[in-house]
Amino acid sequence: MRLTTKIVTVVTVAVAALALTGLATAKDKAPSGRELYKEYCKPCHTADSPNGEYTPMTLIQDQWTEFFTKNYERTHKNVVDPKHDNAKVLELITPDMLKKIQKFAVDHAADSEHPMTCG
Ligand code: HEC
Repeated sequence: MRLTTKIVTVVTVAVAALALTGLATAKDKAPSGRELYKEYCKPCHTADSPNGEYTPMTLIQDQWTEFFTKNYERTHKNVVDPKHDNAKVLELITPDMLKKIQKFAVDHAADSEHPMTCG
């Protein structure tokens, strides 16, 4: 192998390795809809909660869509979350997080192919 070829090979391998590590880290950092639901919804909506028990399979898909598009803001605007330093729920959960949570709820609603609690 000529020296330049060797160098090119080494550099290519190093870049590929770095790219893979980067991907793995990014994936670790971005929680799934299920993890978000568990962390940001479930604590207030367990079986014995005065706020009502809600897991994805509590509602059907249309009800979840209606909840997220019409009722979420209204029903949670004055709610603060003791699990997260009493932050306001509407400020704590970003629009991106909410999108993932909505997808998880709809994908596992009572009338979905894979109804699920969030475990
Ligand atoms: C800090 C506590 C808290 C958190 C966190 C929380 N909720 Fe609620 N949730 C409430 C309260 C309080 C109500 C209103 C209960 C009532 O009016 O009887 C409510 C109501 C609801 C309702 C019923 C709404 C309706 O139309 O009656 C649903 C569904 C719901 N929450 C789902 C969720 C989801 C999904 C999340 C996560 C994105 C979430 N909640 C996060 C406290 C919380």
